[in-house]
Amino acid sequence: MAIYKFPENFTWGAATSGPQTEGWSDKSSFSIYEHWFQTEPEKFHNGVGPAVNCDTYRKYKEDVKLMKEIGLTSFRTSIQWTRLIKNFDTCEVDPVAVEFYNNYINEIIDAGIEPYINLFHFDMPIELQNRGGWESKEVVDLYVKYASKCFELFGDRVKKWCTFNEPIVPAEGGYLYKFMYPNISDFKRAIQVGYNTIVAHAKAVESFRKLKTGGEITIVLNLTPSYPRSEDKKDLEASRIADGIFNRSFLDPVVHGNFPEDVVELLKNNDLLPEYTEEELEVIKNNPIDFLGVNYYQPRRVKAKETEVDPNAPIMPETFFDYYDMPGKRMNPYRGWEIAPQVMYDVAINIRDNYNNIPWYISENGMGVEGEERFRDENGVINDDYRIDFVKEHLTHLHKGIEEGSNCFGYHLWTFIDCWSWANSFKNRYGFVSLDLETGKRTIKKSGRWIREVSETNQFEY
Ligand code: BG6
Repeated sequence: MAIYKFPENFTWGAATSGPQTEGWSDKSSFSIYEHWFQTEPEKFHNGVGPAVNCDTYRKYKEDVKLMKEIGLTSFRTSIQWTRLIKNFDTCEVDPVAVEFYNNYINEIIDAGIEPYINLFHFDMPIELQNRGGWESKEVVDLYVKYASKCFELFGDRVKKWCTFNEPIVPAEGGYLYKFMYPNISDFKRAIQVGYNTIVAHAKAVESFRKLKTGGEITIVLNLTPSYPRSEDKKDLEASRIADGIFNRSFLDPVVHGNFPEDVVELLKNNDLLPEYTEEELEVIKNNPIDFLGVNYYQPRRVKAKETEVDPNAPIMPETFFDYYDMPGKRMNPYRGWEIAPQVMYDVAINIRDNYNNIPWYISENGMGVEGEERFRDENGVINDDYRIDFVKEHLTHLHKGIEEGSNCFGYHLWTFIDCWSWANSFKNRYGFVSLDLETGKRTIKKSGRWIREVSETNQFEY
């Protein structure tokens, strides 16, 4: 047993998003997910959609009370573009939505919790998707208008802003691997989507700084560190390419202000470069983030290609590497994701050594488990010891990275309360607090009691 003590002012929190918790009461319009659910409900686990979710829209006071009770010192959620804005072109706001977000943010602050407010969590308005979504530069500019409106409305109190959650996901889910609307598979278009998102991010950062409302701004990236099958040159090369496509292509522009040369070269050689202007590259160069949010769930294991690439097949990231199914890897069987806590250390050291040791935090990490009801005891509490162990394990490796100088200032679990998980709906539960879908009743899990202790003492034993 050892004691893991964290730096003073380390923040203990949780993350969620508007579309996954609020429910759609009183919304001005729908996002791609709400539209997709209405048109193809069978694509969602048990046909359960985002209509009610946790009903945070009506129950935010109760939720904030629970956040306080479990000792959270910070909390991330997102504003929904489709709730706040009535007219995307003029950026006219819905006063009912402004009131809701004001009340919600004030409630969080009054509870002594620092709000981290994100502006986009996969929820492209369907109207704007129909006008090109992230492929359209016009939509990029409308996003910047919306972001600026948020800074103006809430920037007097919100001091931690986030432009995007996992900007690579709409590109890969919507335009490559078909797990997100509009379910297209076209690498070149996916690259345009990813690139335009980075432009939107940088322009929003620029506007944030011009408005001088104070505070700091970030982007949340889901890093999937690449590991080669072996130290063989070809495996190492495969790993470098995967890392370039999935991690550095976002990390480098937001921290260093430029795109990695090897990735640009690869895109150029394969006729995949997006449409860009010199002016856009300038905005990216001049607007690095203040701090970084890292969602870490799993690594990416790769090897050199073992099969000939069919020259007639459409080009995909996997044209350049194969996935490696590492024998003996630990898995979360419910989500199908590898569990590799030691990677936390590598993330920390990578940021220290290759990204200016920028201040950063774990903006998401967590474990989705199906059928948690079986762990509910006679007092109604879910005994999620596996989640406590999961978090402890990850934190010990993070702790080592911090001890060795990495500038990490916080940890957010995904998520505060069991919430709607896109196509997986409510299948896997992630929260410190459980949600009874039938009654809406909230109950703190054992992990919620545990995190309170950790937050109060800033340490734990393992
Ligand atoms: C993150 C997202 O990638 O993972 C969340 O930011 C998501 O929105 C979470 O819910 C867990 O993944 P999933 O697919 O199990 O909900």
